[in-house]
Amino acid sequence: MLLQNLSDLPRLIQAGMGAHISSANLARETSRLGALGVVSGVGLRQIVITQIRLGDTNAIEVARTFPIPGYFEELLRYCPGGDHADRAIPMDVPDRVRGAIAKRLSTICSYVEVRRAKAGHLGQVGINVMWKCALTALPTIYGAMLAGVDALLCGAGVPMELPDIVRRMRTGEDLEYTPLTGTSTNVNLQIAGDNSASVLQNHPVPRLLPILSNYAFCKRLLDTWRQRYECEPSAFILENHAAGGHNAPPRDHVAFGSSDDLESYFDKVLRIGLPVYVAGDFPDGGTQSDMLEWLSRGAYGIQVGSRFALCEESGMRPDLKYEIIEQNQNDELQVDTDMRMSPTGYPLKFVRLPGTLSEPEVREAQRHVCNLGYLMHSHVDVDEAGNSKESYLCAAMPPDQLQKRGGDTADGDGRICLCNALLATAGYNHASEPVLVTLGLSGKAVKERLTAREVMESILGAEAVAKFEAQLSVK
Ligand SMILES: Cc1cc2nc3c(=O)[nH]c(=O)nc-3n(C[C@H](O)[C@H](O)[C@H](O)COP(=O)(O)O)c2cc1C
Repeated sequence: MLLQNLSDLPRLIQAGMGAHISSANLARETSRLGALGVVSGVGLRQIVITQIRLGDTNAIEVARTFPIPGYFEELLRYCPGGDHADRAIPMDVPDRVRGAIAKRLSTICSYVEVRRAKAGHLGQVGINVMWKCALTALPTIYGAMLAGVDALLCGAGVPMELPDIVRRMRTGEDLEYTPLTGTSTNVNLQIAGDNSASVLQNHPVPRLLPILSNYAFCKRLLDTWRQRYECEPSAFILENHAAGGHNAPPRDHVAFGSSDDLESYFDKVLRIGLPVYVAGDFPDGGTQSDMLEWLSRGAYGIQVGSRFALCEESGMRPDLKYEIIEQNQNDELQVDTDMRMSPTGYPLKFVRLPGTLSEPEVREAQRHVCNLGYLMHSHVDVDEAGNSKESYLCAAMPPDQLQKRGGDTADGDGRICLCNALLATAGYNHASEPVLVTLGLSGKAVKERLTAREVMESILGAEAVAKFEAQLSVK
């Protein structure tokens, strides 16, 4: 029952979890064993360049295969031996010429991550594009498509323009959205000079999998895609508010209630007639019984996050994983939802762990600096003469910086710098940088250290996993 025709999408998705929790290492293992292995697209410019700076020679070898001239040479400038090796990794800036560098680096880093996940097997690999990271969404998709990514999974937003983005990239056109719907961020990517259409058209069109949390968004997205782009999502991923990471805001903007439960809209979405995956609604923590239950209800499959986040191959710092598992063994782990902490404005699930940003004192002491900028959005000021000037804001910026750029300092109250915290959680930051672990409620069920294979076997069965492994191996 859990086997599938291999030309189809796998029934199990190993969720894309940022930053770097769903690493290439994790996604390679799960996709070679029959899941849709998904890498996180969050922060890849920082992550891959740091890997290279720390001596990861495989990353540089993979980057060398990037199919468009100029990108690899530019990356080398930021690597050991390059003239920018000691400089900070470029951030996104509104100026098109200067801003192009960060985009090209994001593109090649996304390419490296996906290529690494796809190496050595025939399984399918997706990338999770966090829509709220609007400034890196286009380069992340472009790099992933150049690497032959099999699926684009988009969460933390409604990816209205996704089919247009994919079509334009495959025909080698420049892209511009002012703004990208739902992000209040103006984005553009200049690729016409790359002559990349022939490379991209050698790859199959990636499956498009929006991650949504209510019926209205599914319907709106479907109507828009049908009318504007004459296409449909390959499947919907319906994510309940018990899932890890960001959750969609509750209907009453105060607290989650029964009208936010996946149960209240699942059947309605199912009746649309497209395949549906379920995420974050697993009474048994994301095991075979959850999968069988959802299949019997008519779902096509499930997307599991927290159990994979805590497995050996995930990118979470091992000491954090083991502390969480130990707390679970004593039934002590607390997973809460904070409505304010994330500068995205979305509710965020977090684990209460001593010494982390889950504690108010640690939050108070977090240094305020916006030096990564993945969650910035556009702000446009128009002067009396009618000239407009665009700047980028993040609610977690230092208040004086926020004010100088035209933001409202009250927006910053209670926020944390999620970019720095999440990179630290994956070990990609200074040791002194405080971490924040996000996990779904099902993470509380993880009481032993498991490999990704063991997690897969507990969902699909050992026999099915062995069969996929054999079918997907490179002979
Ligand atoms: C550590 C962690 C990080 C996550 N990060 C993201 C993310 O960057 N983008 C996203 O769409 N979903 C993210 N999620 C949600 C997962 O993709 C998935 O839908 C969810 O974890 C499924 O529920 P489960 O945690 O109960 O298995 C994250 C989840 C976890 C546990």
